[in-house]
Amino acid sequence: MYDKQDEKRLYEQAIYLLNADASDAATTVAQLRDCINYADWKYYVLSEPVLADVEYDALFRKLKELEHAHPQLLTPDSPTQRVAMGLSERFPAVSHLVPMLSLDNTYNAEDLLDWDRKCRELAGTDDITYCIEPKYDGASVSVIYEDDHLTRGATRGDGVMGEDVTVNVKQIRAIPLSAKLAAYGIKQMEIRGEIVIHKKVFEAYNERRIDQGLEPLANPRNAASGTLRILDPSEVRKRGLNAILYSISDYTLLPGAERPDELSTHYKSLQWLYSLGFPAPAREMKVCTHIQEVISYCTEFEARRDDLPFEVDGLVIKVNDFALQDKMGMTSHHPRWAVAYKFKARQAESVLRRVEFQVGRVGSVTPVAKIDPVPIGGVTVSSISLFNEDVIKAKDLHIGDTVIVERAGDVIPYIVRSMPEKRTGNEEPIIFPTHCPACSSLLEKQQDEAAWRCINATCPVQVVERIIHFASKDAMDIRSMGGANVQKFHDAGLLPDIPGMYSIEWDKVKGMEGFGEKSVSNLQQAIEQSKKQPLNRVIYGMGIRYVGETTAKTLAAAVSHISDFYNWDVEKLATLSDVGPKVATSVADFFARPENRNMIDKLAAAGVNLTNDHKAQQAAADGILAGKTFLFTGTLSRFKRSDAEALVESKGGVLLSGVSSKLNYLVVGADAGSKLEKAKKLGSVSILSEEEFMTLTGME
Ligand code: IVH
Repeated sequence: MYDKQDEKRLYEQAIYLLNADASDAATTVAQLRDCINYADWKYYVLSEPVLADVEYDALFRKLKELEHAHPQLLTPDSPTQRVAMGLSERFPAVSHLVPMLSLDNTYNAEDLLDWDRKCRELAGTDDITYCIEPKYDGASVSVIYEDDHLTRGATRGDGVMGEDVTVNVKQIRAIPLSAKLAAYGIKQMEIRGEIVIHKKVFEAYNERRIDQGLEPLANPRNAASGTLRILDPSEVRKRGLNAILYSISDYTLLPGAERPDELSTHYKSLQWLYSLGFPAPAREMKVCTHIQEVISYCTEFEARRDDLPFEVDGLVIKVNDFALQDKMGMTSHHPRWAVAYKFKARQAESVLRRVEFQVGRVGSVTPVAKIDPVPIGGVTVSSISLFNEDVIKAKDLHIGDTVIVERAGDVIPYIVRSMPEKRTGNEEPIIFPTHCPACSSLLEKQQDEAAWRCINATCPVQVVERIIHFASKDAMDIRSMGGANVQKFHDAGLLPDIPGMYSIEWDKVKGMEGFGEKSVSNLQQAIEQSKKQPLNRVIYGMGIRYVGETTAKTLAAAVSHISDFYNWDVEKLATLSDVGPKVATSVADFFARPENRNMIDKLAAAGVNLTNDHKAQQAAADGILAGKTFLFTGTLSRFKRSDAEALVESKGGVLLSGVSSKLNYLVVGADAGSKLEKAKKLGSVSILSEEEFMTLTGME
């Protein structure tokens, strides 16, 4: 991709551009792009950053400013175009050019020998070269390049159809937006790979989640696949995903072009992709000419699996020669020319020293084992959830026991078993408390449940957990009011309960360490804004047992005001879709309790929205613009833009922030610029003058 000289030139160019004033915009824009692409490649593909973050940001800002001042210089593959505008509404289903199959698994040398035997039979030769590369533990993706440009990125889905997540794939800076494929006679190419998240990035992300009072994600794989499907591309960008592209699944040649030699073997094809700037695992590949060599490499690699920056759950062994691959074919589930060698789950021995009992938001008491710290898969484990009393009994765990701890592909560790053979006689039974460790109330256990629960609604730990949940992102979304701040305010007596959020004595907060004018005013603003949250978020935030986000939406949609539930009994609640008897009982019980009604009264008095505006919803759903998308551009002369936008929404229309294939109408005022051009190019957008817009909306 870049030779030593290129690298030196681009680095010097970057430093020069950081200090120089732009003279010729077109040249500077091109140079800035080259430098940013180079810096992205060094950072994301090679993990060798060449610029400090501030330098990178400064270059990026310069490029953005120049493109803004000279829109004619903007191109779709400019690095600034990774910063997508607006929200994706949903991800359309798309079919893969070639189905995305799975892999067959092997676990030991014997399995590999078997597989090799079958390969030689199918290939009709003993002369097979194998190529080995890591099996990355992330989310599968398929990307398509057409005429040198990235045109589509899709999730695996069911293997035949996936979700079109192009906007998000473009946020991943390891994936080039363009590549010189036509120079090799390639018209279109589909490449497979894995979206991964650096172990360090994942840990930092989880720490942030914990700070915000959110549950940490279980493992980097979940984090990668979840992030890929987030509707807000700017959030995707912030999460710092990376990618590995490990297989060319399909390509078409330009008319008259011949297949390049680079596409004759798997090894050559990945080295070639790498040379073009793709994040192919070129440096992690091993070529073997005999299965014994494969076996040795697998054993040796397994021993150093934790040295890689990403989670790796095995190795993939592929027949190198593409012609042989074609001859061997595939089943409906997996190719016959490739196999995964799965690593053993990571285990370690440690000693169980004590058990702590933690109280959760709904009062369940969870036993947590404290063990001698032990490294497993690059992470030091010292604390392991035992879930409930039944697990302790089933595994026959005692204080002082030697235990086997495992971290499978997942980051969350668990105790596999105790080792009674190592007992000395000094072990002691684990005694489950009869009273709440936080408030000393008697614990209760319901017949069909495994967990002991503290049912004291004023239990201090539960109160804090409930407030944290109320403020959390998916509930009232009160920024900066995460676990740490809630605990601080609660301890200082400033936040006794959920409604207390709206009557915090800010003068007292200002005297607390770490709270300046700015942070206090941000917090106040966030709390004030939360009063306008829709009813479903309030209901979810109240933390009713078994009521998740979806049930909260169902409940909110069924009433005009939250207090309507005071007259709903279990039977009526159970008539709602997705509300079974267990949920209905929990909801009815919640609204029957005086302390909860009291909380609702206090929230109402504070001005928190507790109504469901059916009329507005219905009017929008019935509106003449229902489901249609709009965008305004240029200077409007007949009305203010904000009024026109409000009109669209009141009639059920949806506003978009940019021109895309999802846009139905572009309303054009005077001096319209690039948006109009783009809409015309797309051809699918109806372009309206102000007069036509007025006719459409019935204003004229
Ligand atoms: S090759 C038709 N190579 O593992 C070829 N897959 O368990 C199939 N994976 O769905 C894929 N690293 O998401 C291949 N180096 C690698 C891989 C890899 C991870 C994933 C892939 C696949 C899954 C199968």
